[in-house]
Amino acid sequence: METGKAEAGKVLFKALFEKESFSEEETNRRIELARSQDYWRQLNPQLNVCADLTFDDFEKDALTNNEIDDMLGKLGREGYFSTQAPLIRKEITDRMLLGVENLRKAGWHEVWAFVYDEFWQVTRTPSMLRLLSAHLGKGFMAMPHVVVHYVCPEKGSGWSPHVDFYDRHDRFTVWFPLTDATIDNGCMYIIARHRVSDTLLVKWLNMEDLSHREVKNLLQSTRALPVPAGSILSWKGDVIHWGTISSKNVEPRVSLSVVYIKENTPPLPDEVPLLSPVEVPDFSTRLMSVAKAIKYYKIHVLSLNKFSAIAHELLTAYKENRIA
Ligand SMILES: [Fe+2]
Repeated sequence: METGKAEAGKVLFKALFEKESFSEEETNRRIELARSQDYWRQLNPQLNVCADLTFDDFEKDALTNNEIDDMLGKLGREGYFSTQAPLIRKEITDRMLLGVENLRKAGWHEVWAFVYDEFWQVTRTPSMLRLLSAHLGKGFMAMPHVVVHYVCPEKGSGWSPHVDFYDRHDRFTVWFPLTDATIDNGCMYIIARHRVSDTLLVKWLNMEDLSHREVKNLLQSTRALPVPAGSILSWKGDVIHWGTISSKNVEPRVSLSVVYIKENTPPLPDEVPLLSPVEVPDFSTRLMSVAKAIKYYKIHVLSLNKFSAIAHELLTAYKENRIA
């Protein structure tokens, strides 16, 4: 019976996958488009591609040293923090949001937004660099796989409850909303880390059944984290978190997230090449990064699977130094 269900699931997945896949011709067309900086500029003229501009005006108000101390204090105590007010100006997040919508209309997954300068620069503002280096040390680095989340109204949801890293330490996730993340459109929820005993966390990670008392404890330790567009939300690798299922008649919940690694921490094979958290990468590195994200996250995000062949070609070209 169970075997029958599993087989039926595989058949259904295969049928869905084939229905959603690009033809070989379309895959080849998109590989050529992906390599063209001019194509991306035409698709989103309000954004930049390797424009070599100075981006010193992204921040609405710089974070003060006291604010950074408070945020890192909360991170140490409870495993997470958020800014209460937007750090990034709305004009910037609005341009980025339009970019995400235009990508979707053109049949691209929103992770392709990382071809644009703004998606790299928004994580490299002076306040961000001060905050991250205070927590991770001056030699901290950024992971190559980046991600953009798009939660559609009503049917969409964020990822179900999980921790980002259970088998590796000193990794740190930062989440940037491009729209207001609200209770109704699927904002993030976390369980405060100091409320989860190590024993309970191990049970959770091992997918063991929990007692009624343990479930009550977890539910009551939950924090809803609605945040405005342009703010920052962040959590440690062993914090349980998720995005809820969206309601009707709300705007989509759109955000990007980046993972950092502490200074002097050796990366694992699936985390290389680490990127500078200060410099904006060149175009070929951006394509590599998008391709790595597709490969890394496609098991969780099924809509990434149709870009697998494109990602494979771009990663091969990057290794062979074939991307201009
Ligand atoms: Fe996560």
